[in-house]
Amino acid sequence: MSEKLIEIDDRDGIVRLTITRPKALNALNSAVLAELEAVLTDLEKRDDLRGVLITGAGEKSFVAGADITEMREKTPEEARAFAGQALRTIKRLETLPVPVVALVNGFCLGGGCELALACDWAVASDNAVFGQPEVLLGVIPGFGGTQRLPRRVGPAMALDLVTTGRKIDAQEALRIGLVNRVMPQAELEAYADELTKQLSGNGPLAVRGAKQAVHDGMDQDLDSALALETALFACCFAGEEQSEGMSAFVEKRKPNF
Ligand code: HXC
Repeated sequence: MSEKLIEIDDRDGIVRLTITRPKALNALNSAVLAELEAVLTDLEKRDDLRGVLITGAGEKSFVAGADITEMREKTPEEARAFAGQALRTIKRLETLPVPVVALVNGFCLGGGCELALACDWAVASDNAVFGQPEVLLGVIPGFGGTQRLPRRVGPAMALDLVTTGRKIDAQEALRIGLVNRVMPQAELEAYADELTKQLSGNGPLAVRGAKQAVHDGMDQDLDSALALETALFACCFAGEEQSEGMSAFVEKRKPNF
């Protein structure tokens, strides 16, 4: 049997996915993307899912991009199909109804950066390197980078990165808002454990609603988005979570969601 390209570690509904192609710095080829999509298909069906963390195997790289060796000989039609496969897979990761967090443990380039951009937020090890170096290869980002990067860091910084192809370190990624936190690589594991505890302790439907409000609201004008928030807020009062959460506060105990 062939080795798994996506390792899965499930801790009470918080699922850690590890892209495992360390010899190629976890570069995304069509086999990795197909396996990731199959994993996401399973995750989408799970009512008990509470969070997803995604990282790369080894200590050197999150994902060093789309696989250049595989892309090299592609025709325009094949390139379009490859980009389509990646866009579809990344979108499915982005639209999982639970928080999706990138643990960026090293190189985060090209398609790797685009994968991280589809996550709700990212934390990085202090040795992480980010960039959209596609122009150095004679192409442009094709896994969503020209669209998600300006939405996250603003158009001027996105244009700087996609037209120069320059690489930035973790501190600059933090300063421009590409990642939320930077820490020594040895602390990423503890962060993941802490996040797992936090997400497991919160009301699962409330967490899903909060993500939905942010994501869906971003595509709407402010008044419509605020109406969406109100609708989702009111929905919380129809289930048991709100009553348990507020009763626990009044009774000075931990909620049991
Ligand atoms: C295929 C890759 C790869 C990639 C690294 N490798 N990145 N293979 N695709 N994106 C392979 C190398 O060929 C090498 O294999 C092994 O991983 C180790 O890499 P080295 O280069 O020897 O390591 P190092 O000298 O430390 O340099 C690390 C690096 C460099 C700076 C990350 O590998 C690099 O520049 N990689 C390419 C980064 C990049 O341009 N990414 C964007 C790709 S385009 P061997 O067999 O020699 O040991 C993209 C477009 C998306 O993502 C849209 C498409 C539609």
